[in-house]
Amino acid sequence: MADRKQATCIAPVNIAVVKYWGKRDENLILPINSSLSGTLSTDQMCAKTTIAISKSFQRDRLWINGKEQDATGKRLQNCLREVRSRCGSEIEGCHYHICSVNNFPTAAGLASSAAGYACLGEYFEYKEGITKIQFTIRQGSGSACRSMYGGFVKWEMGNKSDGSDSIAVQVTPESHWPEMEVLILVVSDKKKGVSSTSGMQTSVKTSKLLKYRAESLVPKLMTEMETAIQQKNYQAFAEITMKDSNQFHAVCLDTYPPIAYMNDISHKIVQLITHFNQYCGEYKACYTFDAGPNAVLYVLAKDVPQILSAVCHYFPCTENHDSYIQGLSNYSDVKE
Ligand code: PMV
Repeated sequence: MADRKQATCIAPVNIAVVKYWGKRDENLILPINSSLSGTLSTDQMCAKTTIAISKSFQRDRLWINGKEQDATGKRLQNCLREVRSRCGSEIEGCHYHICSVNNFPTAAGLASSAAGYACLGEYFEYKEGITKIQFTIRQGSGSACRSMYGGFVKWEMGNKSDGSDSIAVQVTPESHWPEMEVLILVVSDKKKGVSSTSGMQTSVKTSKLLKYRAESLVPKLMTEMETAIQQKNYQAFAEITMKDSNQFHAVCLDTYPPIAYMNDISHKIVQLITHFNQYCGEYKACYTFDAGPNAVLYVLAKDVPQILSAVCHYFPCTENHDSYIQGLSNYSDVKE
């Protein structure tokens, strides 16, 4: 097809250590609090997205991991509408075929949509510049703007009503803290029950704890976290990361009806890491959970073998469900 244009991009996943939860403007995707994340390297977890544009396409279509999805969803269409309006006559009358493959569980609270939308961002960046394109991809996934940079990245909530000061900026480059590793414990690869979009809306409407989080807690955690990262202070980093994750999930439970993203296994992982750190007399690992049951551990490279052997001991990796449960019951040993 002569008019067809196609490109493939890869974008990494980012995992927040101070989480974004709640929008003050649903159209511009402006958050009620700033957030901060680490971007994983693309050889670990990433989304690879091929985008084709053609006038001969009858409608927009989307495939994720080889399965066709509904391409009429609000998030995707808002994002594509924004792209159309920015690119103007060059793509008038065209439709998109988007094919995205993740090398990790999709929609299981592991920032898969952020990586997917960040791919769209990389694709269009050549026209717009990295700052402007953030506004477009945020229509798909707010946290995607943080995947546009490597290292540790913060998304400043900003104050202006037009959102022009609500942007992601790099806090430190990839090279700053190379000893920091990320372990992902996949508790479930099922799609999450409550999407982050609807979860945030309900929390904003019903949770008083969220108001405290956004107005009092997060501003303090953001300052402390930036200092911890700048100084490569793992002890401070670990404590803030776990406290933020705990408080975020407390907000989810304070939401009405309540949202429980973490399951029993997630809570057992929290206990394991807590007991392990207590036993060692210092933080050796810290956990964080996004909108799903899967655990993300930030660990210094020197401690990875020890942490991995503890995790594999209490949660043996196997496809066999019965052995998996067996593994979980072994967990009671850890308290002794
Ligand atoms: O980017 P969204 O709209 O899918 O929301 C992401 C929300 C969390 O992952 C829970 C937190 C975060 O800051 O990444």
